[in-house]
Amino acid sequence: MSTTKQFDVVVIGGGPGGYIAAIRAAQLGFSVACVDAAENAKGGPALGGTCTNVGCIPSKALLQSSEHYEHAGHSFADHGIDVSGLKLNLGQMLKRKDTIVKQNNDGIVFLFKKNKVTFFHGRASFAGAATAEGYPLSVSAPANETISAKHVIVATGSNARELPGAPFDEKLILSNTGALAIDAVPAKLGVIGAGVIGLEMGSVWRRLGSEVTVLEGLPVFLGAVDEQIAKEAGKLFAKQGLNINLGCKIGQITPGKNNVSVAYENAKGEAQTAVFDKLIISIGRTPNTNGLAADKVGLQLDERGFIAVDGDCKTNLPNVWAVGDVVRGPMLAHKAEEEGVAVAERIAGQHGHTNFNTIPWVIYTSPEIAWVGQTEQQLKAAGIAYKAGTFPFMANGRARALGDTSGMVKFLADATTDEILGVHIIGPMASELIAEAVVAMEFKASAEDIARICHAHPSLSEATKEAALAIDKRTLNF
Ligand code: NAI
Repeated sequence: MSTTKQFDVVVIGGGPGGYIAAIRAAQLGFSVACVDAAENAKGGPALGGTCTNVGCIPSKALLQSSEHYEHAGHSFADHGIDVSGLKLNLGQMLKRKDTIVKQNNDGIVFLFKKNKVTFFHGRASFAGAATAEGYPLSVSAPANETISAKHVIVATGSNARELPGAPFDEKLILSNTGALAIDAVPAKLGVIGAGVIGLEMGSVWRRLGSEVTVLEGLPVFLGAVDEQIAKEAGKLFAKQGLNINLGCKIGQITPGKNNVSVAYENAKGEAQTAVFDKLIISIGRTPNTNGLAADKVGLQLDERGFIAVDGDCKTNLPNVWAVGDVVRGPMLAHKAEEEGVAVAERIAGQHGHTNFNTIPWVIYTSPEIAWVGQTEQQLKAAGIAYKAGTFPFMANGRARALGDTSGMVKFLADATTDEILGVHIIGPMASELIAEAVVAMEFKASAEDIARICHAHPSLSEATKEAALAIDKRTLNF
């Protein structure tokens, strides 16, 4: 047993919330340790959490590769590029994805060294009440340490939610983890849940050749997305061949030797059975508090199993904070990062701030969907008088040159003050375009402010300016 190592701040979890909190705390002059249990294939550390290992990063790698494959097969000819003998090398595609993950894992190790953050590979749990040294924490193998922390930041993330009676085996019934590592393109792929993961992973495997059937419980498609944008997305995805079925009640899921059968009731109440070669279940995620020994110190959870925190990410225990997927709010890497930075700054006595109204959302389908602020249906429900302006990419020169003219930019602004209340984009590079809207909303800009800013020509961002102009019905190119 080694002696207790003392730190000002110990961060439990090395995902985007945790590793960023650790770096920020170190920048602010604290002695900092981060504990993370994730392992790579060789048993070494795999810093970066769900995002880096089995989420944002590998999914974007496969989305990019599969989009290239689809372009090569379908749209290159239009550009005057004839491809013959096009062949999928799935092994190489997966290898490339794994290399990118490893680069990101190693990048965080480098960042920890650069910022003098001590890393412990293992699982941290509360070992007892706080003493004069702070909270004692035990770290499991391979680190096998006892450490103490004046401040603890819990950033333990989330796990994929299972359907009762259908545990993930990652062979036939897949979570996000297995969905990123299928070693042969399944002829028939089932997806339960038409949320972010279902649509992104469904898109990857459809592009690579799977017949994809998505079974969604709710009767509406992408309920959190602005209705007009969701409707457009539904049309475009159906045209691409994603077979999305709404209002399904999932029944028995029965894995066989090489396939899995799903009994469900469709929206008309008719009993159906579908047989798939693989089934992805993407019905949301649950907070991960396993192994923390939260009860040992009386760390409070809320009724849904999240660590209970206030607006500043303070838990019920003095000097114990929690950020990211393990607390309320959207399960997004960038939300976790913002909270991590804000907590480190609060520990330093500064006024860390997270603006929940300006957190952008992105779904990395093709076209991408991105938004910030309120949807039209939310404004209606809140009784807020607003003006709407849209501009289609069809009328944007750069989109035409790119060969990707689907979708639109939509602005929603206060009817009286013209303040931007929401911006919704479906179209090429929506994930990048949304940044302008986030900046504008952070600075409480009006739609007219955006309309008066010079945007480079030809660029997709002109569609943003034009949508802002559309608020006052004065688009120039449509
Ligand atoms: P989600 O919350 O995005 O979607 C889950 C979907 O499953 C919903 O449409 C829900 O109505 C449906 N559903 C729930 N129970 C069901 C049932 N029993 N039968 C049929 N349908 C059911 O969750 P998802 O896709 O699993 O993603 C998990 C989290 O990861 C989300 O919070 C998401 O924001 C985050 N994520 C973010 C990404 C991004 O920012 N691009 C990428 C991937 C995940």
